[in-house]
Amino acid sequence: MPNIIVNTELCNRCNTCASICLMHIIKPAQEESYPSIDSRNENNCLLCGHCEAFCPQQALVLDYLTEEKQLYQEEESIIAPHHLALYMQKRRSIRYFKPESVAKETITGILEIARYAPTGGNSQTVQWLVIHDPKEVRRISGLTVEWMRSIKDTPHPLANYVPNIIKDWENGLDPICRNAPHLVFAHIPTGDFIDDRTDAIIAITHFDIAAPAFGVGACWAGFIQMAIDSYEPLMAALDLPPKRSVGFGLFFGYPELETKAIPRRNPLEVVWRT
Ligand SMILES: Cc1cc2nc3c(=O)[nH]c(=O)nc-3n(C[C@H](O)[C@H](O)[C@H](O)COP(=O)(O)O)c2cc1C
Ligand code: SF4
Ligand code: SF4
Repeated sequence: MPNIIVNTELCNRCNTCASICLMHIIKPAQEESYPSIDSRNENNCLLCGHCEAFCPQQALVLDYLTEEKQLYQEEESIIAPHHLALYMQKRRSIRYFKPESVAKETITGILEIARYAPTGGNSQTVQWLVIHDPKEVRRISGLTVEWMRSIKDTPHPLANYVPNIIKDWENGLDPICRNAPHLVFAHIPTGDFIDDRTDAIIAITHFDIAAPAFGVGACWAGFIQMAIDSYEPLMAALDLPPKRSVGFGLFFGYPELETKAIPRRNPLEVVWRT
């Protein structure tokens, strides 16, 4: 496990690093020493990087993927609240797509942002499956419709809803992925650990929010998710690595239509306890 490297020329022994470490493994600097991690405690490091990120002197480097360290100018990272509000409020679920493909480099650019989504205990167990081939996307839609046929005459809560979807599919439409050229799934270790599923949904949310900055539009693939959870042939078609399960997915591509206004939502409801 990594340790910390402290530049003694820059360190002013403020001990921010020791106080901020969630795991309390950084021994504070004393008059004659600098902060350090006892090698016996290295295994408790979460790799969260807070010691490095919050060091006011930038005197500390976590000895982990050091070649990927990024510095930035503060002014480059500031977004005015009204710009952020507009950016996020004008994001829409996209259901009409241009047929053109989104380049793998562009998708990677979005995923490079999404991989910074927070994870419980910094576990970073989320991995990705991108279905880039539109024919495969259509196959996944078809399997979801097959699952819908299997619940049509059952007490399933969607049973009354599915006949119209099935009819659309039979008429050559794609009511599941809306003819989007691509699908992305965040997948997680199989099991009931609530944090893993939550991590996947947060990661997918990051993708959904980052995508419009690349000109890409997405929509949450809720029908597919419902089918995946109970329809083995669909899970088999996704062919995830062993012991991995889908957390959630989005279909995406370049939007065919532009939004021109922000729709209304329910008013904010907050209980303030002061
Ligand atoms: C968990 C979840 C599942 C969804 N599943 C679908 C879906 O299967 N198909 C679809 O067209 N839209 C789906 N949506 C999109 C919602 O209908 C959409 O977010 C909502 O109508 C509000 O529109 P907006 O996202 O443009 O604000 C889903 C959204 C969420 C959050
Ligand atoms: S936060 Fe930085 S400057 Fe302060 S003690 Fe730690 S390494 Fe030194
Ligand atoms: S990376 Fe996180 S857990 Fe590890 S030493 Fe730094 S602050 Fe502590």
